[in-house]
Amino acid sequence: MKPVEPRLQRKLLAWLLGPLAVLLVIDTAAAYWNSVRFSDLAYDRALHEIGREIVLHVKLDGGQPRLELSEAAGNILLLDPDDLLFYRVTGADGTVLGGDADMPPPREAPRATGTEALAPRFYRDDVGDAPVRMMVARMRAGTGTGPGTPLVQVQVAETLHKRTRFAWEMVANIVLPQLLLMVMATAVVWFGVSRGLQPLQRLRRAVSDRSHLDLSPIDTHDVPGEVRPLVNEVNDLMARLGQTFDFQNRFVADAAHQLKTPVSGLKAQIELAQRETDPERVRHSLAQLYISADRLSRLVRQLLSLARNEPGALASMQLRPLDLNAYALEVSMEWVPQAIKRRIDLGFEGADRPLMIDADPDRLRELINNLIDNAIRYSQSGGRVTVRVNVGGSNECRLAISDDGPGIPVPERARIFERFHRLLGTQEDGSGLGLAIVSEIATLHGARITLEEDTDGVGNTFSVFFPLRGAGPSPGLSAS
Ligand SMILES: Nc1ncnc2c1ncn2[C@@H]1O[C@H](COP(=O)(O)OP(=O)(O)OP(=O)(O)O)[C@@H](O)[C@H]1O
Ligand SMILES: [Mg+2]
Repeated sequence: MKPVEPRLQRKLLAWLLGPLAVLLVIDTAAAYWNSVRFSDLAYDRALHEIGREIVLHVKLDGGQPRLELSEAAGNILLLDPDDLLFYRVTGADGTVLGGDADMPPPREAPRATGTEALAPRFYRDDVGDAPVRMMVARMRAGTGTGPGTPLVQVQVAETLHKRTRFAWEMVANIVLPQLLLMVMATAVVWFGVSRGLQPLQRLRRAVSDRSHLDLSPIDTHDVPGEVRPLVNEVNDLMARLGQTFDFQNRFVADAAHQLKTPVSGLKAQIELAQRETDPERVRHSLAQLYISADRLSRLVRQLLSLARNEPGALASMQLRPLDLNAYALEVSMEWVPQAIKRRIDLGFEGADRPLMIDADPDRLRELINNLIDNAIRYSQSGGRVTVRVNVGGSNECRLAISDDGPGIPVPERARIFERFHRLLGTQEDGSGLGLAIVSEIATLHGARITLEEDTDGVGNTFSVFFPLRGAGPSPGLSAS
Protein backbone atom coordinates (compact mmCIF):
# COMPACT_ATOMS: atom_id res chain seq x y z
CA MET A 1 0.00 0.00 0.00
CA LYS A 2 1.35 3.43 -0.88
CA PRO A 3 1.82 5.87 1.99
CA VAL A 4 -1.02 8.36 2.09
CA GLU A 5 0.69 11.29 3.77
CA PRO A 6 2.64 13.01 0.98
CA ARG A 7 -0.36 13.40 -1.29
CA LEU A 8 -2.63 14.71 1.44
CA GLN A 9 0.17 16.83 2.83
CA ARG A 10 0.93 18.33 -0.57
CA LYS A 11 -2.74 19.09 -1.12
CA LEU A 12 -3.12 20.80 2.23
CA LEU A 13 0.03 22.82 1.65
CA ALA A 14 -1.03 23.79 -1.86
CA TRP A 15 -4.38 25.00 -0.52
CA LEU A 16 -2.72 26.99 2.21
CA LEU A 17 0.29 28.36 0.38
CA GLY A 18 -1.36 28.98 -3.00
CA PRO A 19 -3.76 31.64 -1.72
CA LEU A 20 -1.01 33.00 0.54
CA ALA A 21 1.31 33.42 -2.47
CA VAL A 22 -1.43 35.21 -4.43
CA LEU A 23 -2.01 37.49 -1.44
CA LEU A 24 1.71 38.17 -1.26
CA VAL A 25 1.84 39.18 -4.95
CA ILE A 26 -1.14 41.52 -4.48
CA ASP A 27 0.42 42.91 -1.33
CA THR A 28 3.75 43.50 -3.11
CA ALA A 29 2.02 45.36 -5.93
CA ALA A 30 0.08 47.50 -3.42
CA ALA A 31 3.27 48.13 -1.42
CA TYR A 32 5.14 49.19 -4.57
CA TRP A 33 2.37 51.56 -5.62
CA ASN A 34 2.30 53.14 -2.14
CA SER A 35 6.08 53.39 -1.99
CA VAL A 36 6.19 55.21 -5.32
CA ARG A 37 3.56 57.62 -4.02
CA PHE A 38 5.50 58.28 -0.82
CA SER A 39 8.85 58.72 -2.59
CA ASP A 40 7.20 61.14 -5.03
CA LEU A 41 5.74 63.13 -2.14
CA ALA A 42 9.18 63.41 -0.52
CA TYR A 43 11.20 64.23 -3.64
CA ASP A 44 8.57 66.43 -5.33
CA ARG A 45 8.94 68.96 -2.53
CA ALA A 46 12.69 69.16 -3.28
CA LEU A 47 11.94 69.74 -7.00
CA HIS A 48 9.62 72.57 -6.09
CA GLU A 49 12.35 74.13 -3.91
CA ILE A 50 14.82 74.00 -6.81
CA GLY A 51 12.24 75.73 -9.00
CA ARG A 52 11.87 78.46 -6.40
CA GLU A 53 15.66 78.90 -6.19
CA ILE A 54 15.94 79.21 -9.97
CA VAL A 55 13.26 81.90 -10.08
CA LEU A 56 15.27 83.92 -7.56
CA HIS A 57 17.82 84.32 -10.36
CA VAL A 58 15.31 85.97 -12.67
CA LYS A 59 16.03 89.71 -12.75
CA LEU A 60 13.83 92.48 -14.09
CA ASP A 61 15.44 94.43 -16.79
CA GLY A 62 13.23 97.45 -17.54
CA GLY A 63 10.23 95.50 -16.42
CA GLN A 64 11.24 92.51 -18.61
CA PRO A 65 12.33 89.31 -16.84
CA ARG A 66 15.78 87.89 -17.62
CA LEU A 67 17.44 84.81 -16.18
CA GLU A 68 20.87 85.34 -14.69
CA LEU A 69 21.97 81.94 -13.48
CA SER A 70 25.75 81.58 -13.35
CA GLU A 71 27.28 78.17 -14.09
CA ALA A 72 28.51 77.88 -10.52
CA ALA A 73 25.09 78.68 -9.09
CA GLY A 74 23.47 76.26 -11.62
CA ASN A 75 25.85 73.52 -10.57
CA ILE A 76 25.03 73.97 -6.93
CA LEU A 77 21.33 73.88 -7.63
CA LEU A 78 21.23 71.15 -10.21
CA LEU A 79 23.96 68.74 -9.26
CA ASP A 80 22.73 65.52 -7.74
CA PRO A 81 24.78 62.35 -7.03
CA ASP A 82 22.00 60.04 -8.28
CA ASP A 83 19.93 61.81 -10.88
CA LEU A 84 20.14 64.23 -13.78
CA LEU A 85 18.23 67.51 -13.38
CA PHE A 86 16.81 69.66 -16.17
CA TYR A 87 15.09 73.02 -16.04
CA ARG A 88 13.57 75.72 -18.20
CA VAL A 89 12.18 79.17 -17.42
CA THR A 90 9.67 80.75 -19.79
CA GLY A 91 8.29 84.29 -19.74
CA ALA A 92 4.58 85.08 -19.64
CA ASP A 93 4.63 85.63 -23.41
CA GLY A 94 6.15 82.19 -23.99
CA THR A 95 9.75 83.32 -24.65
CA VAL A 96 12.28 80.92 -23.22
CA LEU A 97 14.43 82.78 -20.67
CA GLY A 98 16.85 79.92 -20.12
CA GLY A 99 17.34 76.25 -19.39
CA ASP A 100 17.77 72.97 -21.25
CA ALA A 101 16.94 72.91 -24.92
CA ASP A 102 15.48 69.39 -25.03
CA MET A 103 13.09 70.02 -22.18
CA PRO A 104 9.60 69.23 -23.53
CA PRO A 105 6.89 71.90 -23.23
CA PRO A 106 4.71 71.43 -20.16
CA ARG A 107 2.06 68.77 -20.69
CA GLU A 108 -0.07 70.09 -17.93
CA ALA A 109 0.54 73.80 -18.36
CA PRO A 110 -0.54 76.23 -15.65
CA ARG A 111 -3.38 78.30 -17.03
CA ALA A 112 -1.56 80.62 -19.43
CA THR A 113 -3.81 83.67 -19.22
CA GLY A 114 -4.03 83.91 -15.44
CA THR A 115 -2.17 86.49 -13.43
CA GLU A 116 -1.86 84.44 -10.26
CA ALA A 117 1.04 82.36 -9.11
CA LEU A 118 -0.16 78.75 -9.28
CA ALA A 119 0.51 75.72 -7.17
CA PRO A 120 3.05 73.43 -8.82
CA ARG A 121 1.98 70.39 -10.83
CA PHE A 122 3.91 67.12 -10.97
CA TYR A 123 3.76 64.33 -13.54
CA ARG A 124 5.79 61.70 -15.37
CA ASP A 125 7.39 62.70 -18.66
CA ASP A 126 10.49 62.07 -20.78
CA VAL A 127 13.48 64.30 -21.46
CA GLY A 128 15.14 62.82 -24.52
CA ASP A 129 15.02 59.09 -23.77
CA ALA A 130 15.13 59.43 -20.00
CA PRO A 131 11.93 59.07 -18.01
CA VAL A 132 11.60 61.92 -15.56
CA ARG A 133 9.39 63.41 -12.91
CA MET A 134 8.39 66.91 -14.06
CA MET A 135 7.44 69.93 -11.97
CA VAL A 136 5.69 72.91 -13.60
CA ALA A 137 4.92 76.05 -11.64
CA ARG A 138 4.18 79.69 -12.28
CA MET A 139 5.97 82.10 -9.90
CA ARG A 140 6.69 85.79 -9.58
CA ALA A 141 10.05 86.68 -11.06
CA GLY A 142 13.02 87.31 -8.75
CA THR A 143 12.30 88.17 -5.20
CA GLY A 144 9.26 90.27 -5.99
CA THR A 145 5.96 89.47 -4.41
CA GLY A 146 3.81 92.43 -5.48
CA PRO A 147 1.07 92.04 -8.05
CA GLY A 148 3.12 94.13 -10.53
CA THR A 149 5.97 91.64 -10.63
CA PRO A 150 5.72 89.62 -13.85
CA LEU A 151 5.03 85.90 -13.74
CA VAL A 152 7.38 83.30 -15.16
CA GLN A 153 6.82 79.59 -15.74
CA VAL A 154 9.41 77.25 -14.29
CA GLN A 155 9.90 73.57 -15.24
CA VAL A 156 12.26 71.33 -13.32
CA ALA A 157 12.66 67.65 -14.26
CA GLU A 158 14.56 64.90 -12.52
CA THR A 159 15.37 61.34 -13.61
CA LEU A 160 13.86 58.61 -11.47
CA HIS A 161 16.83 56.64 -10.08
CA LYS A 162 16.63 57.57 -6.44
CA ARG A 163 12.84 57.49 -6.43
CA THR A 164 12.82 53.96 -7.85
CA ARG A 165 15.52 52.84 -5.43
CA PHE A 166 13.65 54.35 -2.52
CA ALA A 167 10.38 52.67 -3.61
CA TRP A 168 12.05 49.24 -3.93
CA GLU A 169 13.75 49.62 -0.56
CA MET A 170 10.37 50.28 1.00
CA VAL A 171 8.84 47.29 -0.81
CA ALA A 172 11.67 45.07 0.37
CA ASN A 173 11.16 46.25 3.94
CA ILE A 174 7.49 45.36 3.79
CA VAL A 175 7.60 42.16 1.74
CA LEU A 176 10.70 40.42 3.07
CA PRO A 177 9.31 39.85 6.57
CA GLN A 178 6.13 38.51 4.95
CA LEU A 179 8.14 36.12 2.80
CA LEU A 180 9.97 34.94 5.88
CA LEU A 181 6.60 34.45 7.59
CA MET A 182 5.42 32.34 4.65
CA VAL A 183 8.46 30.11 4.79
CA MET A 184 7.94 29.65 8.52
CA ALA A 185 4.23 28.93 8.00
CA THR A 186 5.15 26.30 5.40
CA ALA A 187 7.51 24.60 7.82
CA VAL A 188 4.97 24.72 10.67
CA VAL A 189 2.13 23.43 8.48
CA TRP A 190 4.34 20.64 7.07
CA PHE A 191 5.30 19.58 10.55
CA GLY A 192 1.72 19.91 11.90
CA VAL A 193 0.19 17.94 9.05
CA SER A 194 2.80 15.17 9.42
CA ARG A 195 1.97 14.93 13.11
CA GLY A 196 -1.77 15.08 12.42
CA LEU A 197 -1.53 12.25 9.90
CA GLN A 198 0.34 9.90 12.21
CA PRO A 199 -2.89 8.22 13.46
CA LEU A 200 -3.76 7.44 9.83
CA GLN A 201 -0.33 5.90 9.38
CA ARG A 202 -0.90 3.77 12.49
CA LEU A 203 -4.35 2.78 11.17
CA ARG A 204 -2.82 1.70 7.87
CA ARG A 205 -0.25 -0.43 9.69
CA ALA A 206 -2.94 -1.95 11.93
CA VAL A 207 -4.97 -2.99 8.85
CA SER A 208 -2.03 -4.24 6.78
CA ASP A 209 -0.60 -6.24 9.71
CA ARG A 210 -3.76 -8.19 10.46
CA SER A 211 -4.49 -11.70 9.32
CA HIS A 212 -7.09 -12.20 6.57
CA LEU A 213 -9.07 -14.33 9.02
CA ASP A 214 -9.21 -11.64 11.69
CA LEU A 215 -12.52 -9.84 11.16
CA SER A 216 -12.66 -8.24 14.60
CA PRO A 217 -13.49 -4.52 14.50
CA ILE A 218 -10.66 -2.03 14.09
CA ASP A 219 -10.03 -0.01 17.25
CA THR A 220 -11.37 3.52 16.65
CA HIS A 221 -9.90 4.90 19.86
CA ASP A 222 -6.95 6.67 18.22
CA VAL A 223 -8.65 7.40 14.89
CA PRO A 224 -9.27 11.08 14.00
CA GLY A 225 -12.94 12.12 14.03
CA GLU A 226 -12.99 12.79 10.26
CA VAL A 227 -11.92 9.23 9.47
CA ARG A 228 -13.98 7.51 12.19
CA PRO A 229 -17.18 7.19 10.09
CA LEU A 230 -15.13 5.46 7.38
CA VAL A 231 -13.56 3.08 9.89
CA ASN A 232 -17.01 2.41 11.37
CA GLU A 233 -18.29 1.54 7.90
CA VAL A 234 -15.33 -0.82 7.38
CA ASN A 235 -16.08 -2.39 10.78
CA ASP A 236 -19.72 -2.86 9.74
CA LEU A 237 -18.62 -4.45 6.50
CA MET A 238 -16.29 -6.80 8.39
CA ALA A 239 -19.14 -7.75 10.73
CA ARG A 240 -21.30 -8.61 7.71
CA LEU A 241 -18.42 -10.54 6.16
CA GLY A 242 -18.04 -12.38 9.46
CA GLN A 243 -21.72 -13.37 9.33
CA THR A 244 -21.32 -14.62 5.78
CA PHE A 245 -18.23 -16.62 6.76
CA ASP A 246 -20.11 -18.08 9.73
CA PHE A 247 -22.99 -19.00 7.44
CA GLN A 248 -20.63 -20.66 4.96
CA ASN A 249 -18.76 -22.55 7.70
CA ARG A 250 -22.02 -23.73 9.26
CA PHE A 251 -23.32 -24.72 5.86
CA VAL A 252 -20.21 -26.75 4.99
CA ALA A 253 -20.28 -28.47 8.41
CA ASP A 254 -24.03 -29.22 8.12
CA ALA A 255 -23.70 -30.46 4.54
CA ALA A 256 -20.78 -32.74 5.42
CA HIS A 257 -22.67 -34.07 8.41
CA GLN A 258 -25.89 -34.66 6.47
CA LEU A 259 -24.12 -36.31 3.55
CA LYS A 260 -22.06 -38.64 5.72
CA THR A 261 -24.95 -40.88 6.81
CA PRO A 262 -26.57 -41.51 3.40
CA VAL A 263 -23.20 -42.05 1.74
CA SER A 264 -22.24 -44.64 4.42
CA GLY A 265 -25.68 -46.24 3.90
CA LEU A 266 -25.11 -46.44 0.17
CA LYS A 267 -21.72 -48.06 0.70
CA ALA A 268 -23.21 -50.64 3.06
CA GLN A 269 -26.01 -51.42 0.59
CA ILE A 270 -23.51 -51.86 -2.25
CA GLU A 271 -21.37 -54.22 -0.15
CA LEU A 272 -24.49 -56.22 0.66
CA ALA A 273 -25.53 -56.40 -2.99
CA GLN A 274 -22.03 -57.54 -3.98
CA ARG A 275 -22.37 -60.56 -1.69
CA GLU A 276 -25.76 -61.60 -3.14
CA THR A 277 -25.78 -64.45 -5.64
CA ASP A 278 -29.50 -64.86 -6.19
CA PRO A 279 -30.40 -62.65 -9.21
CA GLU A 280 -33.83 -61.84 -7.73
CA ARG A 281 -32.25 -60.54 -4.50
CA VAL A 282 -29.60 -58.62 -6.49
CA ARG A 283 -32.41 -56.89 -8.42
CA HIS A 284 -34.14 -56.04 -5.14
CA SER A 285 -30.89 -54.63 -3.70
CA LEU A 286 -30.38 -52.52 -6.82
CA ALA A 287 -33.94 -51.17 -6.51
CA GLN A 288 -33.16 -50.22 -2.88
CA LEU A 289 -29.91 -48.63 -4.01
CA TYR A 290 -31.78 -46.57 -6.58
CA ILE A 291 -34.14 -45.24 -3.88
CA SER A 292 -31.18 -44.36 -1.63
CA ALA A 293 -29.33 -42.65 -4.48
CA ASP A 294 -32.48 -40.71 -5.35
CA ARG A 295 -32.81 -39.58 -1.72
CA LEU A 296 -29.14 -38.54 -1.73
CA SER A 297 -29.54 -36.64 -4.95
CA ARG A 298 -32.57 -34.78 -3.49
CA LEU A 299 -30.52 -33.89 -0.40
CA VAL A 300 -27.73 -32.53 -2.59
CA ARG A 301 -30.25 -30.54 -4.66
CA GLN A 302 -31.79 -29.05 -1.53
CA LEU A 303 -28.35 -28.22 -0.08
CA LEU A 304 -27.37 -26.43 -3.28
CA SER A 305 -30.68 -24.59 -3.32
CA LEU A 306 -30.11 -23.47 0.27
CA ALA A 307 -26.63 -22.21 -0.60
CA ARG A 308 -27.98 -20.37 -3.65
CA ASN A 309 -30.59 -18.55 -1.57
CA GLU A 310 -28.45 -17.54 1.40
CA PRO A 311 -28.96 -13.98 2.67
CA GLY A 312 -26.03 -12.61 0.62
CA ALA A 313 -27.67 -13.76 -2.64
CA LEU A 314 -29.50 -10.45 -3.20
CA ALA A 315 -27.01 -9.39 -5.88
CA SER A 316 -27.77 -12.46 -7.99
CA MET A 317 -31.57 -11.95 -7.96
CA GLN A 318 -33.08 -11.67 -11.44
CA LEU A 319 -36.15 -9.64 -10.54
CA ARG A 320 -38.80 -8.98 -13.16
CA PRO A 321 -42.49 -8.01 -13.10
CA LEU A 322 -44.58 -11.16 -12.86
CA ASP A 323 -48.28 -12.00 -12.50
CA LEU A 324 -48.40 -14.19 -9.39
CA ASN A 325 -51.86 -15.43 -10.33
CA ALA A 326 -50.81 -16.85 -13.71
CA TYR A 327 -47.41 -18.04 -12.51
CA ALA A 328 -48.76 -19.99 -9.51
CA LEU A 329 -51.31 -21.66 -11.82
CA GLU A 330 -48.56 -22.61 -14.29
CA VAL A 331 -46.36 -24.15 -11.54
CA SER A 332 -49.34 -25.93 -9.90
CA MET A 333 -50.27 -27.56 -13.22
CA GLU A 334 -46.89 -29.26 -13.30
CA TRP A 335 -47.83 -31.07 -10.07
CA VAL A 336 -50.99 -32.65 -11.45
CA PRO A 337 -49.37 -35.99 -12.46
CA GLN A 338 -47.75 -36.31 -9.04
CA ALA A 339 -51.07 -35.49 -7.33
CA ILE A 340 -52.93 -38.05 -9.45
CA LYS A 341 -50.30 -40.64 -8.54
CA ARG A 342 -51.02 -40.06 -4.84
CA ARG A 343 -54.76 -39.69 -5.42
CA ILE A 344 -54.73 -36.13 -4.17
CA ASP A 345 -57.28 -33.61 -5.36
CA LEU A 346 -55.08 -30.65 -6.36
CA GLY A 347 -57.16 -27.50 -6.80
CA PHE A 348 -56.42 -23.89 -7.78
CA GLU A 349 -58.40 -20.81 -6.73
CA GLY A 350 -56.97 -17.73 -8.44
CA ALA A 351 -57.78 -14.03 -8.15
CA ASP A 352 -60.04 -12.45 -10.77
CA ARG A 353 -57.28 -10.15 -12.04
CA PRO A 354 -53.51 -10.27 -12.54
CA LEU A 355 -51.54 -9.57 -9.36
CA MET A 356 -48.19 -8.10 -10.36
CA ILE A 357 -45.16 -8.56 -8.14
CA ASP A 358 -41.38 -8.18 -8.63
CA ALA A 359 -39.94 -11.67 -8.47
CA ASP A 360 -37.09 -13.89 -9.56
CA PRO A 361 -39.05 -16.55 -11.54
CA ASP A 362 -36.67 -19.45 -10.84
CA ARG A 363 -36.59 -18.79 -7.12
CA LEU A 364 -40.35 -18.24 -6.95
CA ARG A 365 -40.82 -21.60 -8.69
CA GLU A 366 -38.58 -23.27 -6.05
CA LEU A 367 -40.67 -21.69 -3.28
CA ILE A 368 -43.99 -22.87 -4.74
CA ASN A 369 -42.58 -26.31 -5.54
CA ASN A 370 -41.38 -26.87 -1.98
CA LEU A 371 -44.75 -25.87 -0.48
CA ILE A 372 -46.82 -28.00 -2.90
CA ASP A 373 -44.37 -30.91 -2.48
CA ASN A 374 -44.84 -30.78 1.32
CA ALA A 375 -48.62 -30.46 1.04
CA ILE A 376 -48.86 -33.47 -1.29
CA ARG A 377 -46.34 -35.58 0.59
CA TYR A 378 -47.55 -34.99 4.13
CA SER A 379 -51.30 -35.32 3.54
CA GLN A 380 -52.96 -38.70 3.33
CA SER A 381 -53.66 -40.37 0.06
CA GLY A 382 -57.10 -39.29 -1.16
CA GLY A 383 -56.72 -35.89 0.46
CA ARG A 384 -57.13 -32.41 -0.93
CA VAL A 385 -54.54 -29.70 -1.64
CA THR A 386 -55.56 -26.19 -2.71
CA VAL A 387 -53.38 -23.42 -4.09
CA ARG A 388 -54.95 -19.98 -3.67
CA VAL A 389 -53.86 -16.55 -4.93
CA ASN A 390 -55.69 -13.46 -3.73
CA VAL A 391 -55.19 -9.90 -2.50
CA GLY A 392 -53.74 -10.03 1.00
CA GLY A 393 -53.51 -7.00 3.25
CA SER A 394 -53.13 -3.50 1.85
CA ASN A 395 -50.54 -3.47 -0.95
CA GLU A 396 -49.97 -7.19 -0.59
CA CYS A 397 -51.03 -10.32 -2.41
CA ARG A 398 -51.20 -13.75 -0.88
CA LEU A 399 -50.13 -17.13 -2.14
CA ALA A 400 -51.63 -19.86 0.11
CA ILE A 401 -51.14 -23.62 -0.06
CA SER A 402 -53.57 -25.63 2.06
CA ASP A 403 -53.79 -29.32 2.71
CA ASP A 404 -55.99 -31.51 4.87
CA GLY A 405 -53.17 -33.60 6.31
CA PRO A 406 -52.25 -33.81 9.97
CA GLY A 407 -52.03 -30.37 11.55
CA ILE A 408 -48.58 -29.24 12.63
CA PRO A 409 -48.54 -28.78 16.43
CA VAL A 410 -48.34 -25.11 17.48
CA PRO A 411 -44.93 -25.41 19.26
CA GLU A 412 -43.44 -26.89 16.05
CA ARG A 413 -44.77 -24.22 13.71
CA ALA A 414 -41.75 -21.92 14.04
CA ARG A 415 -39.18 -24.71 14.28
CA ILE A 416 -40.07 -26.44 11.00
CA PHE A 417 -38.57 -23.44 9.17
CA GLU A 418 -35.16 -24.24 10.71
CA ARG A 419 -32.71 -26.26 8.68
CA PHE A 420 -32.86 -30.02 9.04
CA HIS A 421 -35.78 -29.83 11.45
CA ARG A 422 -38.40 -32.52 10.77
CA LEU A 423 -41.43 -33.58 12.79
CA LEU A 424 -40.99 -36.75 14.79
CA GLY A 425 -42.89 -39.68 13.39
CA THR A 426 -42.95 -38.36 9.81
CA GLN A 427 -43.03 -41.41 7.54
CA GLU A 428 -42.08 -39.57 4.37
CA ASP A 429 -38.50 -39.10 3.19
CA GLY A 430 -37.09 -35.63 3.34
CA SER A 431 -33.99 -33.69 4.18
CA GLY A 432 -35.65 -31.06 6.39
CA LEU A 433 -34.43 -28.18 4.17
CA GLY A 434 -37.54 -27.36 2.07
CA LEU A 435 -39.10 -24.80 4.43
CA ALA A 436 -35.71 -23.24 5.26
CA ILE A 437 -35.30 -22.64 1.51
CA VAL A 438 -38.86 -21.25 1.27
CA SER A 439 -38.14 -18.88 4.14
CA GLU A 440 -34.91 -17.58 2.55
CA ILE A 441 -36.52 -17.08 -0.85
CA ALA A 442 -39.42 -15.20 0.78
CA THR A 443 -36.93 -12.95 2.60
CA LEU A 444 -35.10 -12.22 -0.65
CA HIS A 445 -38.44 -11.08 -2.12
CA GLY A 446 -39.37 -8.95 0.88
CA ALA A 447 -42.24 -11.35 1.57
CA ARG A 448 -43.46 -12.81 4.89
CA ILE A 449 -44.76 -16.29 5.68
CA THR A 450 -47.47 -17.43 8.06
CA LEU A 451 -48.62 -20.92 8.99
CA GLU A 452 -52.12 -21.54 10.26
CA GLU A 453 -54.62 -24.32 10.43
CA ASP A 454 -56.69 -24.50 7.29
CA THR A 455 -59.91 -22.50 7.29
CA ASP A 456 -62.00 -25.59 8.00
CA GLY A 457 -59.82 -26.49 11.01
CA VAL A 458 -58.24 -29.50 9.31
CA GLY A 459 -54.74 -29.49 7.85
CA ASN A 460 -52.31 -26.62 7.35
CA THR A 461 -52.23 -23.43 5.34
CA PHE A 462 -48.85 -21.93 4.46
CA SER A 463 -49.34 -18.31 3.27
CA VAL A 464 -46.69 -16.12 1.64
CA PHE A 465 -47.50 -12.40 1.44
CA PHE A 466 -45.68 -10.60 -1.40
CA PRO A 467 -45.56 -6.79 -1.73
CA LEU A 468 -47.55 -5.77 -4.81
CA ARG A 469 -45.47 -4.19 -7.55
CA GLY A 470 -45.05 -0.41 -7.10
CA ALA A 471 -46.18 -0.51 -3.46
CA GLY A 472 -43.62 0.10 -0.75
CA PRO A 473 -39.90 -0.69 -0.93
CA SER A 474 -38.67 -2.90 -3.73
CA PRO A 475 -38.15 -6.59 -2.86
CA GLY A 476 -34.86 -7.47 -1.41
CA LEU A 477 -34.32 -4.02 0.07
CA SER A 478 -36.64 -4.82 2.93
CA ALA A 479 -35.09 -8.22 3.33
CA SER A 480 -32.59 -8.31 6.14
N1 LIG B 1 -47.84 -29.51 4.71
C1 LIG B 1 -47.30 -30.12 5.74
N2 LIG B 1 -48.07 -30.94 6.53
C2 LIG B 1 -47.51 -31.53 7.57
N3 LIG B 1 -46.24 -31.46 7.96
C3 LIG B 1 -45.46 -30.68 7.23
C4 LIG B 1 -45.93 -29.97 6.10
N4 LIG B 1 -44.89 -29.25 5.58
C5 LIG B 1 -43.82 -29.52 6.34
N5 LIG B 1 -44.12 -30.36 7.33
C6 LIG B 1 -43.21 -30.84 8.37
O1 LIG B 1 -42.14 -29.94 8.44
C7 LIG B 1 -40.91 -30.64 8.22
C8 LIG B 1 -39.97 -29.75 7.50
O2 LIG B 1 -40.38 -29.57 6.18
P1 LIG B 1 -39.33 -29.25 5.07
O3 LIG B 1 -40.01 -29.05 3.79
O4 LIG B 1 -38.49 -28.18 5.59
O5 LIG B 1 -38.43 -30.53 5.04
P2 LIG B 1 -38.71 -31.90 4.40
O6 LIG B 1 -39.97 -31.87 3.63
O7 LIG B 1 -38.65 -32.90 5.50
O8 LIG B 1 -37.48 -32.12 3.47
P3 LIG B 1 -37.21 -31.49 2.02
O9 LIG B 1 -35.99 -30.72 2.20
O10 LIG B 1 -37.00 -32.69 1.19
O11 LIG B 1 -38.41 -30.70 1.68
C9 LIG B 1 -41.28 -31.85 7.45
O12 LIG B 1 -40.37 -32.86 7.71
C10 LIG B 1 -42.64 -32.19 8.00
O13 LIG B 1 -42.50 -32.92 9.20
MG1 LIG C 1 -40.29 -30.47 2.15
